[in-house]
Amino acid sequence: MTKFIMFLIVSNLVLPLSTAFSQEMSLTAEKGLFKFPFFDDQTPVWQYNGQIPGPVLRAKAGTILTVRLNNMLEEPTTIHWHGVRTDNAMDGVPGVTQDPVKPGDSFEYRLRLEEAGTFWYHPHFNNSEQIERGLKGVLIVEDNEQLAWSRDTIWLLDDWSLQKNGTIYPNFNTPHDLMHDGRWGNVSTVNGEYQPDFKVKPGERIRLRIINGANARVFSPQFQGLPAKVIAVDGRPVSRFFALDKFMLSPGNRLDLDIVIPRDAGGKTYEVTDDFPQKKYLLAAIHVKDEPPLTTPDFEPPISKNFIPASLFEGVPITKTWELSAFRGGKLGIGWGMNQKLWPDSDTAAFPLGTPQKVVFNNTSSRLHPMHIHGVFFRVLERNGSPAVEPFTRDTVLIGPRENVVIGLVPEHKGIWATHCHILEHAEAGMMTTVEVGVSNVD
Ligand code: C2O
Ligand code: CU
Repeated sequence: MTKFIMFLIVSNLVLPLSTAFSQEMSLTAEKGLFKFPFFDDQTPVWQYNGQIPGPVLRAKAGTILTVRLNNMLEEPTTIHWHGVRTDNAMDGVPGVTQDPVKPGDSFEYRLRLEEAGTFWYHPHFNNSEQIERGLKGVLIVEDNEQLAWSRDTIWLLDDWSLQKNGTIYPNFNTPHDLMHDGRWGNVSTVNGEYQPDFKVKPGERIRLRIINGANARVFSPQFQGLPAKVIAVDGRPVSRFFALDKFMLSPGNRLDLDIVIPRDAGGKTYEVTDDFPQKKYLLAAIHVKDEPPLTTPDFEPPISKNFIPASLFEGVPITKTWELSAFRGGKLGIGWGMNQKLWPDSDTAAFPLGTPQKVVFNNTSSRLHPMHIHGVFFRVLERNGSPAVEPFTRDTVLIGPRENVVIGLVPEHKGIWATHCHILEHAEAGMMTTVEVGVSNVD
């Protein structure tokens, strides 16, 4: 138990919110038009504040961010703040933490931002359609201590399923999507741009924040010839830096990279490819200006030493196992279940506050399931029976075909937290449940 008490103290390094200041802004979900380079006509999209992707929100850790959502769509919507651990009532899950926001209505999200990190926001209503049509954006919570990065760059990766006339393929949750790994598009973009060219200077040290905002596509970004060090996963600092290798960035995941442009790289172009598919393809290019090099800033990014170490879960019994599989049934004809149950008639979990828990995702299907739990971070402990402790925590983990993954978590925030597959078509087909923390009579 002493181990556990230590953990609570260490993890409590958050600013007292009494000293917080607050910032207010609004996000209007509305229909609009967006120009892709390959079509004559503009593409009808759904977007926040007239932008694809939505505006980047930036706020400081320890402050309160108030966001008014105005719904100008023709259907209800909500906003979920992916990865942000905050008050449950602000989590944006219709039917769980709030009512859907009706067309013409608005809702005020008041987010107490405890931790710095790379997060993103997206609807949690009719997800597979609303997110695919363009509703998403990035939320950066900044540390109070600023590091001397030459630049802080955001790449929101996405993929779109576009028709020959430039419109978004209008059928959602098709039997094909449901029987496979969801809706994979035919055009991948970075910040809404197709194969953009990023201009940098020799000697720069770049914090690159990569977010996978696609419905279903897994990206494995590779920087051809350019070393990239992983400093944070899913927003939280890693416990040990490591070189970016074949990292599976599944829908929902974020990676923060530390990239130094060599001083002698002036005039060079580095390709950034997605190596997840058998045939890799170009995502973006980094073009180094032919200029005299800058002095590379020298500093150490923070690491997270004691946040839910694997040792915390030694001897902890498994408290919940979810089997992931498909069967005939549900509102779409094909159901994706967790223990053969479909949302909203799900097999839920209930955990007391502050006690280490071991949870198993047992994928008996041959498809991918990036499983996401709201309101907590967890550590991967085992894959297929072998220890597979990762030097970082996550809020979303990709479970491969027939894979069995054990994770460890400590619920610290009270509430009812949605838990689902982040392949949005699977979630629509029922692959969602809740984790109730400190709510029932479990504590
Ligand atoms: Cu980005 Cu419920 O998730
Ligand atoms: Cu899935």
